[in-house]
Amino acid sequence: MKKPLAVYSPRPTKNSSRILVTGSAGFIGFHLAKKLLEEGVDVVGIDNLNDYYDPKLKTDRNKILKSHENYTFLKGDLADEKFITQLFKKFKFDQVCHLAAQAGVRYSIENPAVYIQSNIVGFANLIEATKNAGIRNFVYASSSSVYGNSAKAKFSVKDRTDEPISLYAATKKADELIAYTYNHLFGLNCTGLRFFTVYGPWGRPDMAPFKFTGRIIAGKEIEVYNFGKMKRDFTYIDDIVSGIIAALKRPKGFRVYNLGNNRPVTLNRFIKAIEAACGQKAKIKYLPLQPGDVLKTAADISESKKDLRFSPKIDIEEGMKKFVSWYQEYYL
Ligand SMILES: NC(=O)c1ccc[n+]([C@@H]2O[C@H](COP(=O)([O-])OP(=O)(O)OC[C@H]3O[C@@H](n4cnc5c(N)ncnc54)[C@H](O)[C@@H]3O)[C@@H](O)[C@H]2O)c1
Repeated sequence: MKKPLAVYSPRPTKNSSRILVTGSAGFIGFHLAKKLLEEGVDVVGIDNLNDYYDPKLKTDRNKILKSHENYTFLKGDLADEKFITQLFKKFKFDQVCHLAAQAGVRYSIENPAVYIQSNIVGFANLIEATKNAGIRNFVYASSSSVYGNSAKAKFSVKDRTDEPISLYAATKKADELIAYTYNHLFGLNCTGLRFFTVYGPWGRPDMAPFKFTGRIIAGKEIEVYNFGKMKRDFTYIDDIVSGIIAALKRPKGFRVYNLGNNRPVTLNRFIKAIEAACGQKAKIKYLPLQPGDVLKTAADISESKKDLRFSPKIDIEEGMKKFVSWYQEYYL
C-alpha cells in the first residue's frame, strides 16, 4: 500500500516538513528556498556552486539563506551518486524540489558533456534516491525549450515535444520521460514545470534581462537578435515561486505544467521597459536570428490555472523596475 502523501505545511509546527531543494544557490532555487524558509519549512539545499556564471552571486544568495536557522546547505554534485545516497541517508525529506541543472541553450552547443552529467545522470540519481527513500512527491524544473521551434501561437502541454532544437532542450525532455517512467512503475508523483524565461532580482547573468541592463547602464551597445521581433514570455520570479509552491502542494501523479506569464512581449518592448527603469536610452545593434534560438515562446497556462490556480501578476514594466532596482543596489 502506498504511504499517505506528505505535503508541506505553510507554518512551523511540531511536525513541520522538510524539503530538499536542489540548486538552492541558483536563481530560482534561492527564491523558492527563501520563501519556504520564511514560511517555516525546513529546507535542505544542495548546489555544486559551479562557475557557469559568477559563483559570487551564488555564495551571496546562499549567505541570505544561511541566515535562516531552518536552512541546511551541502555543497555537492548531483552526478556524484555517493553524495546523493549519503544525502538521503542523512536526512528524511517529505518532498523533493529539483531545480539544479546546467542551464543555457547556447552553452549546450559548446559544452554538451556537462548537460549529460548534470541534467541526465544527476536527474536519474536524484529521482532514484527519491523513490528509494519512499518519498511521494518529486517536483522538477523542465523548460519551455522542449517546444522547439513550434509554429503554434501558444505552447500547450498537450503539444508534441519530440523535436528539441538544442541539447539543453533534449535533456529536459529526457527528464520528463524518466519522470513518466518513475510514475508509471513506482507511483511516484512527478510534476515537471516548464518555465518560460524567468527574471527578477538575483537573476542569471547569462540571460537577456541581466545582460541588457548591465550594458545599458554602462552605456554599451546591445545586440538584439532577429531585429527585436522575437517574442518572449518573460515571467517574474515571484509568479514562478507561487507556481512551484502550488505544485508542491497539489501532486497529481504524472504532470507537466507551463509556468509562463502568458502575455509574451517583443524584445523591443522589453528593451523599452529597461530603458524606463534605468532612465537611460539603449544603444542597439540589430542582428539576424541565431542558430538554436526559438522565434517565440508563449505559454498556454490553462492546465496550470486549473490545477495549480496559477495566475501570474507582474508585467514586464513592473518586473524590470524591481530587477533594475536590485541590480543597482548590488552592483553600483
Ligand atoms: N531561469 C529560467 O528562465 C529557466 C527557464 C527554463 C528552465 N529553467 C530551469 O530551472 C532550473 C533553475 O534555473 P536557474 O535559472 O535558477 O539556473 P541557475 O543556473 O541559476 O541555477 C541552477 C543551480 O544548479 C546548480 N547546479 C548545476 N549543476 C549542478 C550539479 N551537477 N550538481 C549540483 N548543483 C548543480 C548551479 O550551481 C546553480 O546554482 C534549471 O533546471 C533550469 O534548467 C530555468
